Amino acid sequence: MRVLLTGGTGFIGSHTAVELLAANHDVFICDNLCNSSRETLTAIESITGRRPVFFESDIRDARAMRGILGDNGIEAVIHFAGLKAVGESCVKPLAYYDNNVSGTVTLLEAMQATGCRTLIFSSSSTVYGTPQKLPLTEDHPVGGVTNPYGRTKLIIEKILADLCAADAEFSAVCLRYFNPIGAHPSGLIGENPNGIPNNLLPYVARVAAGVLKEVNVFGDDYPTPDGTGVRDYIHVMDLARGHALALQYAAGRSGWDAINLGTGKGYSVLEIIRAFEKACGHPVAYRIAPRRAGDIAANWADPSKAQRLLGWRAERGLEDMCATAWNFQQRLLSGK
Ligand code: NAD
Ligand code: WQD
Repeated sequence: MRVLLTGGTGFIGSHTAVELLAANHDVFICDNLCNSSRETLTAIESITGRRPVFFESDIRDARAMRGILGDNGIEAVIHFAGLKAVGESCVKPLAYYDNNVSGTVTLLEAMQATGCRTLIFSSSSTVYGTPQKLPLTEDHPVGGVTNPYGRTKLIIEKILADLCAADAEFSAVCLRYFNPIGAHPSGLIGENPNGIPNNLLPYVARVAAGVLKEVNVFGDDYPTPDGTGVRDYIHVMDLARGHALALQYAAGRSGWDAINLGTGKGYSVLEIIRAFEKACGHPVAYRIAPRRAGDIAANWADPSKAQRLLGWRAERGLEDMCATAWNFQQRLLSGK
């Protein structure tokens, strides 16, 4: 299939590009490079032997999007492009609504204009807000989101549902990711955020590498077994495979759907630090810090819908997630 990956040079997009190229799809990427670099294209080519067709453009550029979709006969879009820093979204909410929500509307208009009617959207478990029960199933109420970033995901999900209601041929699948971590086994692609990482894993990796001093564990008084926050960490390679399967699923149907991509198992912050220590072979310094505003105590997925509809389940465990994240971190430091 001829597939456009918006945000395809980013963390999850690049791993998905590798997966789709391996499955013989024709991969096109459009990215404005605000949080990634062109070097990723070379890394993807080194891994797969094929280089995606790349357009340096912004999804908010209506003319560019029509051109990319129309000129290349794109049959489906996997829409990763977006800003994703929760804290920044509270300081610059308009930038998030503009980039994520307006950008998606522009992309959808271009899809409509060029007759492309299949979309996979990068949603998030954040749409569930504070869980009323665990594990989270897709019919758990959405809402109660505590930050503008999360609200952009919820709004986009609703926009897609409205579009599917209005256009009987449109197919939109919202993949609700839990906490993606890990890297490709080659160490050539992975997660490399600019500045001080917001997310736990890249922070732990930098402490392990000696780039940062210690991990701040945000709260040890949650109602969880060891008092620290519990999340469903999922290997980015499993997530990438989920996209390839979701693409087949979306292409063969119409209408709106939402599917969790998680493992179904939660780990605490301290369990993550211990697993990372095993992967890197030395202690990782940490201190207990106050809770972070807006955090929930725990969430993990019920992934059975993905199994039922896509034939997908997570296969890689925490050990592999930490080992590949560490391998990637070491390659970054060595500059190779
Ligand atoms: P990422 O920042 O690595 O990738 C996003 C890519 O989109 C980047 O390459 C960036 O340059 C590009 N981009 C941003 N705005 C753009 C625009 N207006 N036009 C064109 N390109 C643009 O992030 P990621 O972790 O790979 O996340 C991918 C998607 O998955 C995002 O939508 C994110 O919100 C969502 N998501 C991520 C997580 C996570 O923990 N990583 C969890 C749930 C959902
Ligand atoms: C995980 C756990 C923290 C950093 C966020 C977004 C969500 C999704 C994924 C992305 C929590 C604790 C963290 C640190 C810590 N979005 N922690 N010290 O908050 O589950 O989800 O990223 O696009 O929408 O909200 O992930 O990795 O930030 O935190 O103790 O330095 O680690 O309190 O319990 P989170 P996270």
